[in-house]
Amino acid sequence: MTVQQLESVAQDIVADARGILAADESTPTIGKRFETIGVESTEDSRCAYRALLFTTAGLGEFVSGAILYDETIRQSSPEGIPIVEVLQGQGIHPGIKVDTGAKALAGAAGEKVTEGLDGLRERIAEYRELGATFAKWRAVITIGDAIPSRYCIEANAHALARYARLCQEGGLVPIVEPEVLMDGAHDIERCDEVTTDTLAAVFHALHEHGVSLEGMLLKPNMVISGAECAAQAGIEEVAARTVACLARTVPAAVPGIVFLSGGQSDEVATQHLNAMNALTGSHPWKLSFSYGRALQALALKRWGGSADNVAAAQQALYHRAKFNSAACSGGYTRDMEGELEAA
Ligand code: 13P
Repeated sequence: MTVQQLESVAQDIVADARGILAADESTPTIGKRFETIGVESTEDSRCAYRALLFTTAGLGEFVSGAILYDETIRQSSPEGIPIVEVLQGQGIHPGIKVDTGAKALAGAAGEKVTEGLDGLRERIAEYRELGATFAKWRAVITIGDAIPSRYCIEANAHALARYARLCQEGGLVPIVEPEVLMDGAHDIERCDEVTTDTLAAVFHALHEHGVSLEGMLLKPNMVISGAECAAQAGIEEVAARTVACLARTVPAAVPGIVFLSGGQSDEVATQHLNAMNALTGSHPWKLSFSYGRALQALALKRWGGSADNVAAAQQALYHRAKFNSAACSGGYTRDMEGELEAA
């Protein structure tokens, strides 16, 4: 893929108020999600669930990309159609999680570094053959007493930059995901500081590694109060602080920013995105979504492992995706939630 082709894929993913469905839960993580609905996690049940998501009629109106796990990109739907072709048929770019998880960072109690660089060039080539056009790597930054350390932020920024350069060399658009976790009792000010430090380090590393900013997307957390903080910032404050933090740290050359939901409820994640896009004053990048839980939660619950519930689950995903698409242009209102209840 040429630099121009990478840029056009990156732009296409955030065009027309569309965003990304993150469905790249690792086998242990999807197992935990299935436990909440009492479904055994097997290769077949995982495939049935992911096929349910991706065959939702009309999903491509609102979703431009889907992030898959290694197992899923090799699977076919129960009807025998390769998952990659199901997505392509909906006009959705197939993407792939290429990191191998966040592991304990040596010498840094309570901190993590993401692994997966060994052999990555070869895996990228294989994923390209399988039909992927973009990739994702998630770094995790934890806020706590005296953490994050500079060492942790830099180790993760370095790995993200190496990953991104390898992706571009191999023809995949890298989604660069430094997630500052919302776990903890810290206030929004602290999240703002840590997110600013993290993004500044990440863009410095991307520059040092020669990554084309035009041919990538950023997937950050929002600037938000810690989940256990007594004073929870409201929607407008989260929106204003997040956009201000990004304006400080993210070059205008980046075509799009696709947020993770990180444990926010479905509705709150949509409200935050909407409020950012409704802010007066322009910003240089598209602001869209790359939600996992905030798109899937109700669909998963409605499905409950039964083929009889597929249509109801798909209705839930369809409407959630539609609301988040509306939020990409600041056009979401809470009245729209009524459509979901009616469905
Ligand atoms: P959540 O939106 O559930 O945080 O998942 C997005 C994701 O891909 C995390 O890496």
